Amino acid sequence: MKKIVIGNWKMNPEKVDEAKKIASGIVKVCKNLKKTEVVICPPTLFISAIAETLQKTKISIGAQDAFYEPKGAYTGSVSVAMLKRIGVKYIILGHSERRELGETDELVNKKLKVCLKNKVTPVVCVGEKVRDAHGYYLAFIKKEIEHSLAGVKRKDLKDVVIAYEPVWAVGSKALKAIEASDLSEMVIYIKRTLTDLFGPAAAQSVRILYGGSVNKENAGEFFNGSGLSGLLVGRDSLDVKKFGDIVLLTEEVASIK
Ligand code: 13P
Repeated sequence: MKKIVIGNWKMNPEKVDEAKKIASGIVKVCKNLKKTEVVICPPTLFISAIAETLQKTKISIGAQDAFYEPKGAYTGSVSVAMLKRIGVKYIILGHSERRELGETDELVNKKLKVCLKNKVTPVVCVGEKVRDAHGYYLAFIKKEIEHSLAGVKRKDLKDVVIAYEPVWAVGSKALKAIEASDLSEMVIYIKRTLTDLFGPAAAQSVRILYGGSVNKENAGEFFNGSGLSGLLVGRDSLDVKKFGDIVLLTEEVASIK
């Protein structure tokens, strides 16, 4: 199974020309990948333009959110099917920055089911705001997974990606990225939670990514024996050189295994 590196551009850059330039740069760096899938998630408004830039390349286009209804009186929303029609293959759901604005596990769950029905891969973000010595953060992650994946069929789990993004490690105000050893524990914990819910085989088929202050210095060590399937990169995905280095490191790790 290929590793995945997803670039979440958030609400950046400001202009479509800039966005196209970054995407073209990434295309060049990613020309010879064999073991790594790269996905770019630009702002919704730029998706069509970037999809065009990515045509005839192996890089996929993704979205940062979508609504669960197919059409209707939902001001400001865009449906999963609409995004699929313009080439979107992955949709990030429940990002902490959206949860901060009111996104709930229940909404994520509805959106996830619509993604699966439309054969678009949902990337479900989970992550605690803080860590505590009593391990309440583990119960929090468990609840997020249980609620977000409620009612999902076992056979569909192979099409689900979970991105573990501890909120304290995300963005420019982040304290720091997670320690590689702590990440290994979290991957095991998430797999254990999925095993309890869906059984070992189905749990094993879910791809787990890490996001939060990923850069070229720490990207390699996150894969060390952690069972991690990939990375969700924010800030450094807007810099061709930095993102390229993260992707190439991932390719190197994937080629060894
Ligand atoms: P940073 O890499 O900027 O910390 O953002 C991570 C993220 O939120 C990706 O979805």
